[in-house]
Amino acid sequence: MAVELDAPLRQHNTFGLPATARQLVRITHEADVRRVLAHPRLGRAPKFVLGGGSNVILTRDMPEVVLKVEVGGVRLLAERDDAFIIEAGGGERWHDVVAWTLAHGFHGLENMALIPGTVGAAPVQNIGAYGLELADRFESLDTVDLVTGRTVTLNKAQCKFGYRDSLFKTALAGKSLITRVRLRLPRPWIPVLGYLDLERKMADTGNTHPDARTIFDWVCAIRRAKLPDPAEIGNVGSFFKNPMVSAEQCRDIITRDPHVVHYPMADGQFKLAAGWLIDACGWKGKAIGHAGVYEKQALVLVNKGGAIGSEVVTLARAIQESVYGRFGIRLEPEPVIV
Ligand code: EPU
Repeated sequence: MAVELDAPLRQHNTFGLPATARQLVRITHEADVRRVLAHPRLGRAPKFVLGGGSNVILTRDMPEVVLKVEVGGVRLLAERDDAFIIEAGGGERWHDVVAWTLAHGFHGLENMALIPGTVGAAPVQNIGAYGLELADRFESLDTVDLVTGRTVTLNKAQCKFGYRDSLFKTALAGKSLITRVRLRLPRPWIPVLGYLDLERKMADTGNTHPDARTIFDWVCAIRRAKLPDPAEIGNVGSFFKNPMVSAEQCRDIITRDPHVVHYPMADGQFKLAAGWLIDACGWKGKAIGHAGVYEKQALVLVNKGGAIGSEVVTLARAIQESVYGRFGIRLEPEPVIV
């Protein structure tokens, strides 16, 4: 087991924030976690699990032992009458797995193409896009307890998935490391085309029965048009969750701002588009220091070059304050702020 000392983390977080891990260990197998736990010095030290760094804002150097998940491999695990079960290592890039499934004729992940980050990080915030979220395609996962070193398999109900939420953001936050995820791709494949941007693509192209590859290409094109590529402009995708409000609160906001983008939920609440709220407060294209608000999508904060974590946090707070001041709504950050 190699322990890297004073390891730079800038390359390991998609916002490109500078920070150093006092000690970093690459985890390529469950056994590596158990080696860390058995280590005389590292064993009892606090741990921090890092995936692709696509959902984390680093505001400081890391005294914790940083465990960089690099468990690899993608395979068809089972072929059932009602579904294909695909198993992928936590360290695999999510988008590569989506592309792999498509190349092998297993459909059902295409709406979630191009989401940055790793397979192991996907369940943590229950990633989602264009009408689908991970929970809709989830079978089970393996996770190693960071105190006992025991591997546990959790099914969908046990993971307690919610909107950009799971057990790994609540009860198990910081306590376990996801090594493998199993995805359930239902048979027969039924396309998910209800999202407005996809409906527009159908109308524009005249193709009302797109195959999985076409949906994949459309999703990639839609994302490239309004979301910055982290390889070029540092970012963590949506910075805030879309807030839920009561029907009464929603009516009140509509009275004052008739254009507010809102979606009715099954439980009677309404989900508001945080991007619209931030945009309405005039933040698009604005910056504080080297942290800015993306010109094409106000929900995405970007690294204008050389940003540090505290600038991102200052910008996020200023946005929260102005949205609260105008709409009385508290925006909740999506990434983990360390
Ligand atoms: N809008 C504006 N101004 C903006 C941004 C958005 O008016 O600056 C409006 C749009 O016109 C649209 C509405 O707000 O009517 C919603 O925008 P969009 O469809 O782009 O989706 P979103 O709510 O901003 C969510 C997810 C994204 C996901 C897309 C597509 C969250 C927090 N974000 O964004 O997920 O890709 O839907 O499904 O739920 C992520 O989580 O990192 C992420 C990128």
